[in-house]
Amino acid sequence: MPPRIKKILAPIDFSSCSTASLAQAAEFARQLGAELEVLHVWEMPHGLRPDLMVWIEGTDAKPVSEIAREDAAREMESFLAASSPATRPHADVRLEGGDPVDRILLAARERGADLIVMGTHGRRGLSHLLLGSVAEKVVRRAHCPVLTVPAPGGA
Ligand SMILES: Nc1ncnc2c1ncn2[C@@H]1O[C@H](COP(=O)(O)OP(=O)(O)O)[C@@H](O)[C@H]1O
Ligand SMILES: [Mg+2]
Repeated sequence: MPPRIKKILAPIDFSSCSTASLAQAAEFARQLGAELEVLHVWEMPHGLRPDLMVWIEGTDAKPVSEIAREDAAREMESFLAASSPATRPHADVRLEGGDPVDRILLAARERGADLIVMGTHGRRGLSHLLLGSVAEKVVRRAHCPVLTVPAPGGA
């Protein structure tokens, strides 16, 4: 018997596809009485060491990884504030740093997700591709079913 859907993982990258996929994930969670976990994986700016210290005018020096994490936290806050109220009260919200595909797959396994709901496309939005690069790898490698959701009006 396939497992009952008790936990849904909704990876988001703040794209318009993410808005649609998070709304869908929240609606499934509501209908099924499942838990919803929202995850954003922030990445290091390419080619920079995480411990590289950066000064921004008027602030103390910080490692570049800390700046990337803080930016992601701010984006998460404004994305959730702008999204449907139905998604907010029930969601466990997480930010993790690293490779998005590895982190999403690990989070799904470690936290026992029964379903992953994510966008067909993301920030790069190359719509001639059937799926974005992160979505494609997650679909191929996930231990559980993955539902991909297009942006409103098609990706
Ligand atoms: N860094 C990330 N953290 C969490 N989820 C992500 C991340 N990047 C992409 N995703 C998820 O994967 C979906 C597809 O994005 P992606 O495959 O990266 O497409 P694209 O190549 O168009 O950027 C997004 O809508 C989002 O659900
Ligand atoms: Mg992407």
